[in-house]
Amino acid sequence: MPEDSLAPERVEPLLSGRFGRPYVYALRCDSTQTALDEQPEGAVAVCEEQTAGRGRLGRPWTAPPGAAVLCSIVLEPPADREPAQLPLVAGLAAAEAVERALNLSAQIKWPNDVMVNRRKVAGVIAEASGDGRVIVGIGLNVNQKPEELPADARVAPASLYTIDGIRRERAPLLAELIGTLERLYGLWREGGLDALYEGLGARDFLRGRRVFVNGSVGTGVAIRRDGRLEIDLDGERRVLESGEVEFER
Ligand code: BTN
Repeated sequence: MPEDSLAPERVEPLLSGRFGRPYVYALRCDSTQTALDEQPEGAVAVCEEQTAGRGRLGRPWTAPPGAAVLCSIVLEPPADREPAQLPLVAGLAAAEAVERALNLSAQIKWPNDVMVNRRKVAGVIAEASGDGRVIVGIGLNVNQKPEELPADARVAPASLYTIDGIRRERAPLLAELIGTLERLYGLWREGGLDALYEGLGARDFLRGRRVFVNGSVGTGVAIRRDGRLEIDLDGERRVLESGEVEFER
């Protein structure tokens, strides 16, 4: 087994909660999003290489083998919670895990990007499976060199390595991410986004930034307590449910 591996032998001893069991691992898969048939809440799929990694809005998600954390997790949100908020819950978990690894602050670019130094280090996708479960996928760029990051990404990408020049073992990072997601998801189940709002609001990347939405220019106001994004377009307040917001770098 290579030194830096996400094989169960490396990751399972680092897991202390309910999430990550079962731990479904493959060296190669199409997408971890499709590797969790019939699994219960907390099951996690991980692979070293995806041949058809999925990003949001039908975009591909690529990473060289063994360089990133590519994982999906099964969640069964209660009926009184809004599943559309799950990318923010997972994004906050990824941001906190990144901060602990880098010792730098990370932000959340609504609705699903984790940013450090104005570059995207992680992305989140949430896909309903039709039976009440939601499969949340997280791609975290860890050891990619600059030339291994996608050249055509809409948001300029970074890896933890391109940020501080340190190569990291991914297993502790993944275990931290899974544990943090379990904790934050538990808080969200109990108290909704209000329970996470302090952490979320403090990391709101678009707040006060010049933004571009469907050809209009405006300013990000805030991620609201219901998870929607409020923006100001020439003095007119608009609230976005979903979609893509570009920003001025
Ligand atoms: C985005 O920023 O567009 C979301 C990217 C999500 C990528 C992760 S990698 C692990 C999981 N498997 C996938 O195919 N996609 C998600």
